[in-house]
Amino acid sequence: MMRRLLVASVVAAGLAGAFAHNTHSDSNQLRRKTLGFGPSHPHATYRTTPTAATSSFGAIREDPTEVARRFITDITKDTAIGSTFAIRKDSYTDKNTGITHVFARQMASFSPTVTRSSGVHPGDPLGLLAGERDDLHTEYCQKLADEMESRVQRIQERLFAQGEQVPMQQVMHEEQQGLDTLRDIHEWNCAHVETPFKMTAEGKFSASSEEAFSGQALLQFMIAATPNSGLAESMMKSPSDYINKMQFTFVHELTGESVTPAFVIDNVPDAVSPVKARMVYIQVPGDNSNSLEAVWRFEVEMQDNWYEAAVTVMEPHRIVSVVDWASDSPIPAPKEPKTLPPATYNVFGWGVNDPTTGNLTIEHENFDHLASPVGWHSLRAYNDPATVKSKSKDGWSNTTTTWGNNVFAHENWEGRNAWVENYRPDAGKNMTFHYAYDPQPTDKTEAMDEAKKFIDVAVTQLFYTGNMIHDLYYRYGFDEVAGNFQQHNFGRGGEEGDAVIMNAQDGSGFNNANFMTPPDGQNGRCRMYLWNTANPYRDGDLEAGIVIHEYSHGLSTRLTGGPANSGCLGWGESGGMGEGWGDFLATTIRSNSTYSDYAMGAWAANRDTGIRNYVYSLNETINPSTYKTLDKPGYWGVHAIGEVWAEILWVVSNRLIAKHGFSDSLYPPYPSDDGAVPEGNFYRPQEFTASGVKKPLIPKHGNSLMFQLVLNGMKLQPCRPSFFDARDAIIAADQALTNGENFCDLWEGFAARGLGPDARVDGRTPWGGGVRTDDHSVPKTCKSAEDPIPEPEPEPTPTPDPGEGDDDDDFPWFW
Ligand SMILES: *[C@@H]1O[C@H](CO)[C@@H](O)[C@H](O)[C@H]1NC(C)=O
Ligand SMILES: *[C@@H]1O[C@H](CO)[C@@H](O)[C@H](O)[C@H]1NC(C)=O
Ligand SMILES: *[C@@H]1O[C@H](CO)[C@@H](O)[C@H](O)[C@H]1NC(C)=O
Ligand SMILES: *[C@@H]1O[C@H](CO)[C@@H](O)[C@H](O)[C@H]1NC(C)=O
Ligand SMILES: *[C@@H]1O[C@H](CO)[C@@H](O)[C@H](O)[C@H]1NC(C)=O
Repeated sequence: MMRRLLVASVVAAGLAGAFAHNTHSDSNQLRRKTLGFGPSHPHATYRTTPTAATSSFGAIREDPTEVARRFITDITKDTAIGSTFAIRKDSYTDKNTGITHVFARQMASFSPTVTRSSGVHPGDPLGLLAGERDDLHTEYCQKLADEMESRVQRIQERLFAQGEQVPMQQVMHEEQQGLDTLRDIHEWNCAHVETPFKMTAEGKFSASSEEAFSGQALLQFMIAATPNSGLAESMMKSPSDYINKMQFTFVHELTGESVTPAFVIDNVPDAVSPVKARMVYIQVPGDNSNSLEAVWRFEVEMQDNWYEAAVTVMEPHRIVSVVDWASDSPIPAPKEPKTLPPATYNVFGWGVNDPTTGNLTIEHENFDHLASPVGWHSLRAYNDPATVKSKSKDGWSNTTTTWGNNVFAHENWEGRNAWVENYRPDAGKNMTFHYAYDPQPTDKTEAMDEAKKFIDVAVTQLFYTGNMIHDLYYRYGFDEVAGNFQQHNFGRGGEEGDAVIMNAQDGSGFNNANFMTPPDGQNGRCRMYLWNTANPYRDGDLEAGIVIHEYSHGLSTRLTGGPANSGCLGWGESGGMGEGWGDFLATTIRSNSTYSDYAMGAWAANRDTGIRNYVYSLNETINPSTYKTLDKPGYWGVHAIGEVWAEILWVVSNRLIAKHGFSDSLYPPYPSDDGAVPEGNFYRPQEFTASGVKKPLIPKHGNSLMFQLVLNGMKLQPCRPSFFDARDAIIAADQALTNGENFCDLWEGFAARGLGPDARVDGRTPWGGGVRTDDHSVPKTCKSAEDPIPEPEPEPTPTPDPGEGDDDDDFPWFW
């Protein structure tokens, strides 16, 4: 008994210690608070076989939206709710593949008697299901607490079973990361949420209108979300003070989802912009089926977070789900001239990952008619945040600074949210962004000033890298309709007004970076930090891999579940893959025709092995990660999960490179003036269908093909994908693009790291827990392929199992 108590207190001390100081020795980085949880829908199924069009004339081209409608009607007609649904307006046809992605939202009518004046109170039709599911979040938190308890037990066992053989320090070190992660998840997501605050019941506030009810629910959320504990206490003590100060503006809408009340709420404590609020139903799992719960859906922008939260309409206001649109990067253990010429930049060119792998060179502004038709420094005046909105619709803003249609880049030493007036370099009429970079070691007290001297280089580099990524991803299908980031969309569809705001040397932190991805039509926000890991400081803006990783959060978030849904990669395996794609794409971009292993963030972190547990390597001794690795302590955080996913993709990609060779440039050839894309040595000769229609262009080489399949896979996978879903989506993408010629190669790659067809997870938990089983086998149809490098020109592989995405009309279906 005595011994048990002793160990428990040691463990507690270890945890506190780990929290107070970062595991990275000389880092003063605080852990950013972030909430992320929601109901899991274990019943959800991913079906890829749509209802066949019935025609005696064989295959007919049909309006894909009609195919989708029929499919949804078919699979929902027998359900309790029936099949009332709306096709979302962010549905689109992918020009690259011809695949149409249709997103649907299930509708449930609110009673017309629920109006502003009637208010919302228990007994109303709105409340029909509320109150039944009080146990949901508690269960989530209980599981987390159990997990922590069993970790503590494990430490006890290790310490006592092995006596003095393993020093306590080493045991603590080995177990610390896992405990840290669990502790953070528990503290952030459970501490305030377990005891919803009954404002009315406690007589502290008496809500009499719908506005006030939404204000109450919002305050409940802010109490949980604010990183400022003093403010949280004050809100709990006198909620009415805060609610009375809020200003509610009722939003009238002619069309859309507007049968339900919507507000914009101003003066919300700790929010940096007015909060959008709308009443909706959310699906929560029940014992046998799902039920609906009426919630307020809030969009809350804060200094370091941008949340989409669902909080019950009924009191006590429970937070049912919350997604942070902000993604952290790795926290390692520790006016107008006449006509301007095209700009040039003295920067680390594309493919140079950081200052140790190349020198500054003069690079040119990209005028790719498809990706950036007017270059990087022009935007329509009416979409220019720096000009008055009333300007003529036809006017252009042509700038001599790092301000354009795709990216706004600038310093943000103050670490604030304001950005329009921030400093940015001005290249003058010649458009020459040419600055020298030679930082010198200094006293610790002067390190910051030394770094700031090179702000022109940092901002120029960030602007250049951001625009290059925009253009590259554009050419692989992250275009306007797919939800990309541009102020002006050239009439090509999608929502505009959403270039990426990129902060260089952001003063809100060190040794990190992050990216916030709201839905299409709202600016993405990227913050890059200085790294105090060396003298002189290292500037994250200069490490392309970090910038690419961050921008890729925008890519994966907008492509998964459709442009208007930013809530699909919030936590657990899907959140982890959100990190992993960024690592994989950054590594692919820096790699060359001679194979090498690569570390993430090695320069900025000043550590050869970088900021992950392992470098990305095909060698299983150097990087042993498999699917099963997710079971290990320390693998509940999204970055660790992402590292495993990136490694798996790296292995798969190199299989395709062995088969199809390597393209020295990932950029497809420039389009001609009419927008036609030449094949060059980049694409295979274009094929035509029997009826003479051009088939999609297929990248010729392994690395470019994998790049395309990964992006196409993101569009095909369901909302909140698991590793299995994302794997299947890549295989489905290959089926659609190449008729499945890489079916076996892809399976062999996935199977090499445990993600074969019989891989399993038992007892999955929302944050990524569960017990996984690796499978190294491949589907039966692939059994003959024993040699690692198949024939260069293999026969098209047999059609995969039915249900594996065998039709152009595949689309993700999710509830
Ligand atoms: C500004 O840029 C637009 C788009 O490239 C171009 O059409 C226009 O001529 C430019 N205006 C000036 C004054 O340079
Ligand atoms: C950078 O330039 C220096 C001096 O010209 C040269 O010695 C070095 O090899 C170059 N480094 C790289 C990575 O190209
Ligand atoms: C711009 O270019 C011209 C011609 O090359 C040169 O004479 C002039 O000095 C340059 N101006 C600036 C501000 O660099
Ligand atoms: C390829 O990349 C590796 C690792 O960055 C580097 O050592 C090598 O010199 C590069 N090879 C070529 C041909 O650029
Ligand atoms: C894998 O890495 C280990 C450790 O560095 C090394 O001993 C081994 O030779 C490598 N295997 C291959 C196939 O390169």
